Amino acid sequence: MSLYTSLVRPALFRLDPEFVHHATLGLAGTLGFAAGPMRFFSAVDDRRLPVTVAGLNFPSPIGLAAGFDKNGAAVPFLAGLGFGFLELGSVSSEPSGGNPRPRLFRLPDDEAIVVAYGVPNQGADRVAARLAGQRHRVPIGLNIVATNRGPNAPAEPDDAIIAEYMIAARRLAPVADYLMFNLSCPNTCDGRDFFADRGRMSAWLDALDAARLDRRPVFLKVSPAGGIAGIEQLLELCDAHDTIDGFMFNLPSTKPAGLKTPESVWKSLPGAVAGPPAAAVLDECLVECYRRMDRSRYVLLASGGVSSPEDAYAKIRKGASLVELLTAMIYQGPGVVHRITVGLADLMARDGVKSVSEVVGADVR
Ligand SMILES: Cc1cc2nc3c(=O)[nH]c(=O)nc-3n(C[C@H](O)[C@H](O)[C@H](O)COP(=O)(O)O)c2cc1C
Repeated sequence: MSLYTSLVRPALFRLDPEFVHHATLGLAGTLGFAAGPMRFFSAVDDRRLPVTVAGLNFPSPIGLAAGFDKNGAAVPFLAGLGFGFLELGSVSSEPSGGNPRPRLFRLPDDEAIVVAYGVPNQGADRVAARLAGQRHRVPIGLNIVATNRGPNAPAEPDDAIIAEYMIAARRLAPVADYLMFNLSCPNTCDGRDFFADRGRMSAWLDALDAARLDRRPVFLKVSPAGGIAGIEQLLELCDAHDTIDGFMFNLPSTKPAGLKTPESVWKSLPGAVAGPPAAAVLDECLVECYRRMDRSRYVLLASGGVSSPEDAYAKIRKGASLVELLTAMIYQGPGVVHRITVGLADLMARDGVKSVSEVVGADVR
């Protein structure tokens, strides 16, 4: 048991989850000056860990998933925790208040979080202005989404939604090392998967071609809901363009099977389940996509229940070149980043693996 799990977590878990999220992020934002000394403790100098993906050099494959630092408020501190990269956002072209509260819930029996935020954020202009001129030791990804204008807003035409992505991307590309387009937010669009539609997805890819985003690597975060047919359609459409560098899968919008938490607790909660219960569905998509995609063109990023070095290593061996986590930080504290990174290097050493790229997809080829 760590100090975090024995003392800090019990205190934090007495408070409202969204309040704790904002408070910890606010604190992290003020502690940026400590990033240098923090790196002394958090940096893991192991030649097995650095990985090059889409032309970018990542000091380790373990990154922060989108949703923790939506507005880029605490980048130096988060980088100081030892992450190999940070994905910020989701950010939309216009500011958004997200969904009505309450919209964040804990399921401690499952070490999970139910998230129904609905992508609140300060908008692309403010986030781009905050990040402008900052330099970081790790790659920074910007996760981009369409603006959530609330449950009562009139439906927007398809081309307006597509245009919104491109407006946000043009503003954010100059401050990003890579762009992750969130085409799948499980908590908006009334649960509709807008991009499951072939015509819309095709129109979106055409718009991306036309946008010419400063040659930033572009990844798509897509819904797992379409299963194998959805993956095959996505790959077929992307194959016809040369703008996409890879994919990852977002949380399913339905509650996963096998939760330890009683149904009476989670049944009425809005939102998607993050943490270990999300792993099975997301890993299945990871493997199916890895097997089908043209590996000379695309890479995969993966998240969903990464709480240990074994989880991270397994995702890499199932096809992920980069692995992200979020919920494990809430349950295990910020030290989890260092623990997973050190443990991953140890597992690779145990197996005689010299680099991450050597072992990507090793279990499913
Ligand atoms: C509180 C919270 C907020 C999130 N917000 C976003 C978001 O804004 N955009 C996004 O693409 N994913 C978001 N996610 C999903 C995460 O990026 C990640 O894919 C998912 O949580 C699985 O990883 P985990 O099990 O390590 O949490 C959010 C997840 C959580 C728990």
